[in-house]
Amino acid sequence: MTGDDPSKRDPAGMSREQLARLAGDLDDVEVVANTPRRPEPTTRAEKRAEKRAEWSVALWFVLSALLAIAFVLAYSLWPNEYVSPSEDGYTLYALYTPVVGGAFGLAVLTLGIGVIMHIKKFFPDEVSVQQRHDGPSDELARKTAVAHFEEIGEDTNLPRRPLIKRAMLGAVGLFGAAAGVLAIGGFVRYPWTGGDKAPLWITGWKPLGGETVYLRSQSGVLGEIDRVRPEDMQPGAMMTVFPFRESDRGEKELLLAAERASDAPVMLIRLRPGTEVTKRPGQEDFNYGDYYAFSKICTHLGCPASQYDSQNHITLCPCHQSEFLITASAKPIFGPAARPLPQLPITVNEEGYFVARGGFIEPVGPGFWERRTRP
Ligand code: FES
Repeated sequence: MTGDDPSKRDPAGMSREQLARLAGDLDDVEVVANTPRRPEPTTRAEKRAEKRAEWSVALWFVLSALLAIAFVLAYSLWPNEYVSPSEDGYTLYALYTPVVGGAFGLAVLTLGIGVIMHIKKFFPDEVSVQQRHDGPSDELARKTAVAHFEEIGEDTNLPRRPLIKRAMLGAVGLFGAAAGVLAIGGFVRYPWTGGDKAPLWITGWKPLGGETVYLRSQSGVLGEIDRVRPEDMQPGAMMTVFPFRESDRGEKELLLAAERASDAPVMLIRLRPGTEVTKRPGQEDFNYGDYYAFSKICTHLGCPASQYDSQNHITLCPCHQSEFLITASAKPIFGPAARPLPQLPITVNEEGYFVARGGFIEPVGPGFWERRTRP
């Protein structure tokens, strides 16, 4: 350590090396020992050894870059639509998460190994001692710190190792891009593709081409169709139902799609006779007697809001405790949800089955970034 006050020294005219030393002095850092790990190679053997060391570092960065590319490809192209264990393609679907997670994890790991190898093989062997001090650094200290980092770069001979430099930049850049894809990839989607038929407007409940849409319960067996009748429910009961069209019968893909659509589940509720109900204007005839059908999808963030308390006519969303009062047209009475659960207009047809009289007249589920009113 020097005896003078380093903050009084004039940095003007100092070389980068002197500025770097001044940075240490300002931070009360004393370099006790500094041995360059790899001095400039002079003999052929030393040059070959240096090249080998360089490649052994660069390979980790190259590997990291390849894994980052693999991650982006797997994230974008690997089939990730749900497939049940009994269907073809289940193995591929089941591998989606391990492949995406594995590629990303290995990209991080190899990037880290590359950095450690670079430090171990090329950074000088240095021992420094620093006294502790409080408070932010002044401008001089910040300026000299930059010089100090440049000095470190010089010490590690990075500028004369373009292979490592490029491999490192490639790995860091691609890894950064992969992290960016992970963060925003799920949002890159235009929700209004399809205009009036965009998925945000249309649900499986909308009768298209005049075809009847029945309310069916789910037995758990694919292809088994249980259309619901009023006598299937006791007063006070609640049942989850899905849309069903006769043209879907026997069509495995269509039946699965109707069950899996995130906006499909509906709570069919039978109130006890004489229960007082407040209806929303314009929806006075959406119910069929004591039977009311509401979307099961919470208008806060889309969890299934179907923990139904038949004594108090309240349905609870377990995610953030929003409560909806069924006898007040499922308006939210507690929690973060701001909109009522959309009501499905229902009736019973001449065969005695529940059917939808139309689709929902408002968006199902949570608010979204550009929710707008139907023109
Ligand atoms: S998703 Fe239902 S309360 Fe948040």
